[in-house]
Amino acid sequence: PKAEFVNELLSKMTLEEKIGQLNLPTSGDITTGQSGSWDISKKIEEGKVGGLFNIKGVQKIAQVQKLAVEKSRLKIPLVFAMDVIHGYETVFPIPLGLSCSWDPKLIEQSARIAAQEATAAGINWTFSPMVDLSREPRWGRVAEGSGEDPYLNSRIAEAMVKGYQQDDLSKTTSMLACVKHFALYGASEAGRDYNTVDMSRIRMYNEYFPPYKAAIDAGAGSVMASFNEIDGIPATGNKWLLTDVLRNKWGFKGFVVSDYTGISEMIDHGMGDLQAVSALALNAGNHMDMVSEGYLTTLQKSLSEGKITMAQIDNAARLILEAKYDLGLFADPYKNCDEKRANTEIFTQTNRDIARKTAAQSFVLLKNDKQTLPIKKTGTIAVIGPLAEAKENMGGTWSVAGKFETSVSLVAGMKTVAPKAKIVYAKGSNLDYDATFETNATMFGKTLHRDNRTDKQLLDEALQVASQADVIVAAIGESAEMSGESSSRTNIEIPQAQKDLLHALVKTGKPVVVVLFNGRPLVLVDEEKSVPAILDVWFAGSEAGLAIADVLFGDVNPSGKLTMTFPRSVGQIPIYYNHKNTGRPLGNKDGKFEKFKTNYLDERNEPLFPFGFGLSYTTFAYGNLKVSAPKINTREKVTVSVEVSNTGSVDGAEVVQLYVRDLVGSVTRPVRELKGFEKVFLKKGEKKTVAFELSAADLSYYDNDMNNIVEPGQFTVFVGGSSQAELQQNFELVK
Ligand code: IFM
Repeated sequence: PKAEFVNELLSKMTLEEKIGQLNLPTSGDITTGQSGSWDISKKIEEGKVGGLFNIKGVQKIAQVQKLAVEKSRLKIPLVFAMDVIHGYETVFPIPLGLSCSWDPKLIEQSARIAAQEATAAGINWTFSPMVDLSREPRWGRVAEGSGEDPYLNSRIAEAMVKGYQQDDLSKTTSMLACVKHFALYGASEAGRDYNTVDMSRIRMYNEYFPPYKAAIDAGAGSVMASFNEIDGIPATGNKWLLTDVLRNKWGFKGFVVSDYTGISEMIDHGMGDLQAVSALALNAGNHMDMVSEGYLTTLQKSLSEGKITMAQIDNAARLILEAKYDLGLFADPYKNCDEKRANTEIFTQTNRDIARKTAAQSFVLLKNDKQTLPIKKTGTIAVIGPLAEAKENMGGTWSVAGKFETSVSLVAGMKTVAPKAKIVYAKGSNLDYDATFETNATMFGKTLHRDNRTDKQLLDEALQVASQADVIVAAIGESAEMSGESSSRTNIEIPQAQKDLLHALVKTGKPVVVVLFNGRPLVLVDEEKSVPAILDVWFAGSEAGLAIADVLFGDVNPSGKLTMTFPRSVGQIPIYYNHKNTGRPLGNKDGKFEKFKTNYLDERNEPLFPFGFGLSYTTFAYGNLKVSAPKINTREKVTVSVEVSNTGSVDGAEVVQLYVRDLVGSVTRPVRELKGFEKVFLKKGEKKTVAFELSAADLSYYDNDMNNIVEPGQFTVFVGGSSQAELQQNFELVK
């Protein structure tokens, strides 16, 4: 019935109406839905709009939908999109934080709740998941992804697609997913947003492509083309990428949308004028035009000049209409405009409670000497830093629908969780000495208020407050707007004013705990040396203040593990655990310089904190690693098992990680690659056996002809609590 329905509709449509379906304007204002200078209403009535994005509010959406289904000739409903990437009004941690839970089920649940709330508010399409693998902490958009690993990224991508779409888009609570940014957006040169990408095919296939493919295999209904070029052709106009790989090789059946002005930006890429780049995009397999209006204004001309075909326009319109059909919008254009749902299903206490629990799972304990954490719920605690009271800052990037006026700050959260403690507060410093970070990156208006007092006044107050305390909590790091889109940095340390504040706090001689807010890995060499405890809390969303307090006071034992390497120095970037061995690997692991080996004169090779690393308030021991057979053939599976024990004094969860090294290949292979993980909860003193199965497919990779191959030979497995796991065993794969 879908094909018949859409065919019949297409047969009634004029060329203009078909092109209209390919047009995706923005509502103008991300939260108010004001249309600004765009005359969207008229265009909707004329059938020149396929969907609208970033309009908030069920009534506004219903009004706009009414124009489409009552005033336009064929009454084709609009699809309503939004960047709901880590929650709608109930905001979950930024995706990088979520990924540190290493818990795809939990992440799926967060996507489910996001969809539940967004669909109750009229939204039926989200520009998520963002699955751009990245090894570039300078790039601010690492906050939106799941880190550096292809395997973990893929599992999370699948989980999010499932959470949004539920295997049935017609359900009222399902939302169409959009996998972005296809492709390689996370590999921009020097970590500068929107910059050039240049990458070998073998690296694309083995390292950067798998998460996109996993999301597509999981059924994602749409894909967003990325801003960057690939092999000299912008992704938006790249036929090899959008047609040969995405459709022909991977079998993607949905539609492709450009990124915001991605089509017209090809003019600046040097690909021609608006007509030329619009034709290039359509020819490449980009179906919907976000904001450029290049399709709307030039495709008819290109058709008459033979630069594109009618079949291409039909095909693009068909794919968009099919998505609307799958969403059930033809059956009920107002299916997501139910005010009762809007009033009862959004930002509920249940959802907020889940967000609080989820947030606590995303935190990574980077250091905890002498059991500084957890803090006792008694005595005097000084909470100091520019982020301690900044509740509007907790949402991080793209929390556009979030309601932070009702959230609690870290200070308020600590007061709630430890009512018997005396919590005292001082701001201590601004984000930095100059206002760069407050004024330069104001995409979502979450800029922090800048204190007019002098730096000295702020510091004096902080020291006075600190002098009363038994323990100091320093709430420092980045503001929300220092990561995310268009927020690249060359210096990824904590801004100097906050470093100086921390230094002064440490000098008091009192124990100092750093609660670190950040949207990317930071260089924390100084802090790691000077404070006994660091808890990385990213931007944890609506319930951040309470969730952080839960962990600081030990009601929740932290269990997050890093999904991106934390470098010692910007000069080490790109730094990632699954690198190649090279022909001149270092012979020592203690950082000693070796002439004519691959290393630096002035810095060791190892990161400060490796991928997969994260501490707990308890300790875990690994032992008895076994592989089920010393040899398997390509049709068999090998089982790798390990015993994990909680050897500390409190209950806790551990992310057990399995890495594999392929010792000899026809192409050089990484020193190790993640191939499995499982988060296990162990009561104190408890021991569990964790088992992983590996098949030949898990050991396969793409060769230089882009064939997925399985090569017999020796493999080493490593199991442990980080990418530096040492417990190992070998097995052999035979034909
Ligand atoms: O979805 C986003 C994308 O990630 C970056 N450019 C704007 C789009 C729509 O808001």
